[in-house]
Amino acid sequence: MTDTTHRVPDRVPNRIQGGDNAPPSGQKDITPDRYLSTDIMRDEWDKLWPNSWVFAGLAIDVAEPGEYFVLNIGPESILISHTDNGEIVAHYNTCQHRGARIMVNDRGWIKNFVCPYHGWTYDRDGKLSVVPDIDLFSNGINCDDQSLVPVRSEVWAGTVWVCMDENAPSFEDFIGPIKKQIEPYRLEEMVLVQDQTVRLECNWKAVFDNFGELYHVEHIHPQHALIFDCPRGEIALWENGHTTVYIEGFTVNTRLPVPDQPTKLMEKQMETMGLDPKEFEGRILDIREAVQKARRDAGPVLGYDYDQLTDDQLSDIVQHNIFPNSMITLQPDTALIMRARPHRTDPSKCYWDKFTFVMPPSPDAENVGDLQHMPKPKPIPDQRPEHDEFDQEDVIAGRKTMDITVDQDVHLIRDVQNGMRSRGFSKQVLNDDEARIQHYHDWYSWFMEL
Ligand code: FES
Ligand SMILES: [Fe+2]
Repeated sequence: MTDTTHRVPDRVPNRIQGGDNAPPSGQKDITPDRYLSTDIMRDEWDKLWPNSWVFAGLAIDVAEPGEYFVLNIGPESILISHTDNGEIVAHYNTCQHRGARIMVNDRGWIKNFVCPYHGWTYDRDGKLSVVPDIDLFSNGINCDDQSLVPVRSEVWAGTVWVCMDENAPSFEDFIGPIKKQIEPYRLEEMVLVQDQTVRLECNWKAVFDNFGELYHVEHIHPQHALIFDCPRGEIALWENGHTTVYIEGFTVNTRLPVPDQPTKLMEKQMETMGLDPKEFEGRILDIREAVQKARRDAGPVLGYDYDQLTDDQLSDIVQHNIFPNSMITLQPDTALIMRARPHRTDPSKCYWDKFTFVMPPSPDAENVGDLQHMPKPKPIPDQRPEHDEFDQEDVIAGRKTMDITVDQDVHLIRDVQNGMRSRGFSKQVLNDDEARIQHYHDWYSWFMEL
């Protein structure tokens, strides 16, 4: 390995300058009406959602002809299906007879799409094929004209994205340089191990903002100080409102005194890599590099292909917030996709989806040699996990968990929404760490013409 192979990925300066699509230069005030107003919520459906590429779901759910899944987002419902020709296509999930929703399940397999109201039947590619008692339509029915209305779609890295406006930029142009930063993690080869949705009592942007800064981490996620150096997270701000944060892992919060011994949490993680925590007493800050080396050496033996990842990527965590509502968080063997979906009518409600992925080791890894002592990788389920949807109260009461960190965020977020309703609050005041929120909202303002 040469140094140049594993250097830090290219990043952009903190604030993007110039360009036709540059965000407005002034930093827009982030006022509570963005989170509370039904008028703004309605405007988002004219100006924001149709012009963005939205993460719709997973390619594994439309892997075979006849498989489909549905993206319900605000008032819209989009049906993604695998056609007989092997294409992945998207259509509005609305019957062209009298507007009924066609598919009400999350996902499944069908021979063709049959509207439950009067039985109009559409092929897997959306074409209208059967109209019961067609003679009753004495003006005639042209099946081509009455087919399901298409939506643009794109399959990338095991994910499916949709865009409702024909004139919006291509997916490639929309997502920009972060596409290349995500690809080395080989998300498409990871296995879905958990599929959860929590119904939240906050605006969809309030929860998305929460994942746009690390300022709160020391206050509500104290456990992070034991393994990540969140205050030193580096940020990148991209065109179209996307942002990235790069956080060093296998270290400690450098604003706190550095402990002499690895913390319990670190010990557990180091053992999964065959590192002896005792060797690092008094050398805590050497652990990160040792982890990089251990992963680099052990990866191929254990069946993990790290060739495309830099040394930093082997120890660190990176989170890409993809405008307007999705996030991809990456580590070498795990990934999360999280997504905020607006409620159909209420700006103070939303859905927060969390898809958890694990990289399965290659079945060809046979030579475990010296590494026999290393723990087996996380179990991979035989089947795709069922979607589990619940209320924030279930998380608060401890009946459901989305992992401790997200649970802590879920506990808090309703109170943020409630606080913003007060006559005593007029706009947000952001610090440098919260520049990602400002950047996101500058682009939100640009889309919304605010
Ligand atoms: S609304 Fe679908 S068949 Fe009538
Ligand atoms: Fe958080």
